[in-house]
Amino acid sequence: MNRNADGSLRASSSNAALLRAAVALAPSGVEVTLYDGLGDLPHFNPDRDGETAPAAVKDWRVRLQASDGVVFSVPEYAHSLPGVLKDALDWVVGSGEFMDKPVALFNASPRGTYAQASLTETLTAMMAKVVPEAPIALQLMGTPLNADRIAADPEMWESRQKYIPATIRGMVTGIEHTAIASPDPHRLAGWYVEHLDFAINYRSSNSQTVFVKAADGSMLEIIESNTADRQALDMKAPGLRHLAIAVSDFDVVYQRLMSKSVSFLTEPEKKGGNSLVFFTDLDGNILHLLQREKPLP
Ligand SMILES: Cc1cc2nc3c(=O)[nH]c(=O)nc-3n(C[C@H](O)[C@H](O)[C@H](O)COP(=O)(O)O)c2cc1C
Repeated sequence: MNRNADGSLRASSSNAALLRAAVALAPSGVEVTLYDGLGDLPHFNPDRDGETAPAAVKDWRVRLQASDGVVFSVPEYAHSLPGVLKDALDWVVGSGEFMDKPVALFNASPRGTYAQASLTETLTAMMAKVVPEAPIALQLMGTPLNADRIAADPEMWESRQKYIPATIRGMVTGIEHTAIASPDPHRLAGWYVEHLDFAINYRSSNSQTVFVKAADGSMLEIIESNTADRQALDMKAPGLRHLAIAVSDFDVVYQRLMSKSVSFLTEPEKKGGNSLVFFTDLDGNILHLLQREKPLP
């Protein structure tokens, strides 16, 4: 779920209109809601915080906690943020609702660059993830503030492709595991333990499924295959082709695999500072031993 926060209390706010357009553009599966409680928040006062924090503050925090990302669209007042918005942000500095929260910045008046810079600075200080590819600046001053008309603007439509995935990106944290089907899952799991220092961290009680885990927490799920027949070994056939095994000392692990008579598909090589070789596990799955000089960005 996404939440939009408007920085203007004006009834005919152009920033509110921009956010209403964002609501209208939300694709299925993504709920974008407007936060309209800014005017109810009291001035920030640390003495009023804690258990007895005002109800409007508690509501602001709860709504932020329930959001995967936040979209702001704020006016600039005298080269800065509107005071109401700064108060709203100050209420959540200590409670930390913006920590790691993806945030997109919209702007209905592109000349208001000080407010955008100030908001970015404040959100960054609060450890929010201000998504660089998400901002949209549409000049709405002096135009009819019809959300459907704004939503139809090609720039707005294009921005939807960027800010929606970017602000909900925090929902996807990575690949939890990769599954390998094997005629003998436990035997294959043992191979990973013996050859590549994985540890068995789960055994199903009602199937052959077993999980193995590497030192960095990455996991393989080994499930029972429905046939022992394998397709021919092809490193570039469509679909998942190999698992790259990260190592901190390529030469040591390579020598160890050599001594265990592992079947190699390529000669070891150095490419751009990276050391790599392709080989197969006990079942013939393609593995890629890799030591990177520096991690990809
Ligand atoms: C008190 C006040 C101060 C303003 N100061 C600036 C400013 O420093 N720079 C700027 O670009 N616009 C400034 N503006 C214009 C607003 O930022 C601009 O009209 C904005 O789009 C209004 O947003 P809204 O329609 O959502 O209320 C100011 C407007 C007001 C009312």
